[in-house]
Amino acid sequence: MRIERFSSQAALYTRAAAIVIEAKQHGATTFGLATGGTMEPLYANICKAAIDFSQCISFNLDEYVGLAATHQQSYAYYMHKHLFHAKPFQASYLPNGLAADPQEEAARYEALLQQHPVDFQLLGIGQNGHIGFNEPGTSFDSVTHLVTLEASTRQANARFFQSIDEVPTQALTMGIQSIMRAKCILLIAVGEAKREALERVLAADYTEEIPATVLAKHPNVIILTDLQERGV
Ligand code: PGA
Repeated sequence: MRIERFSSQAALYTRAAAIVIEAKQHGATTFGLATGGTMEPLYANICKAAIDFSQCISFNLDEYVGLAATHQQSYAYYMHKHLFHAKPFQASYLPNGLAADPQEEAARYEALLQQHPVDFQLLGIGQNGHIGFNEPGTSFDSVTHLVTLEASTRQANARFFQSIDEVPTQALTMGIQSIMRAKCILLIAVGEAKREALERVLAADYTEEIPATVLAKHPNVIILTDLQERGV
């Protein structure tokens, strides 16, 4: 793992966009994409950049169960709003949150992923150390699956909804093994709320109780953060 610390978020997101652009220049064609507040400034920078994804494909990490792609809080909607409207891909895949059988949908999505190995994966991190919607306790061997969201995750995401009752209780997410298959991973951790989880990752404190700690075993992870080392 390589970590780069920034004193300003603007500098961090300039660097993050440069890393994405460089990955594409070096031949990445399949991109794993993430959502959440963390990714918004990155996508804003990418939208302004001279980069063309029209020959690339994308896979999103996760999607809520029960929200249509037209729902403003669905991740399909988020991706269109923040990236795809300006930078369309040849094909963009997200799990279908309205699939009649979510387990079957998870298997379908995993099979697609296995046909198209991800070259470059973007990742945020949850306060509880989740990656995608892989909550604490998820097996490091997991592939795409249906999850029940933790109360803390629903609480953290409630800011995007009118009330917490509207936050879906389930989601479909790439598994930890699915994420770890990416050739290169860029993890972005911004804000004090992420400090504890990030420190556990950096300590390579390998435990399924903090899913992101698995990243210490990946050969090619870059971490960008605005958090300075304690006491510095
Ligand atoms: P956030 O979410 O970017 O909205 O903080 C990140 C995550 O939960 O993975």
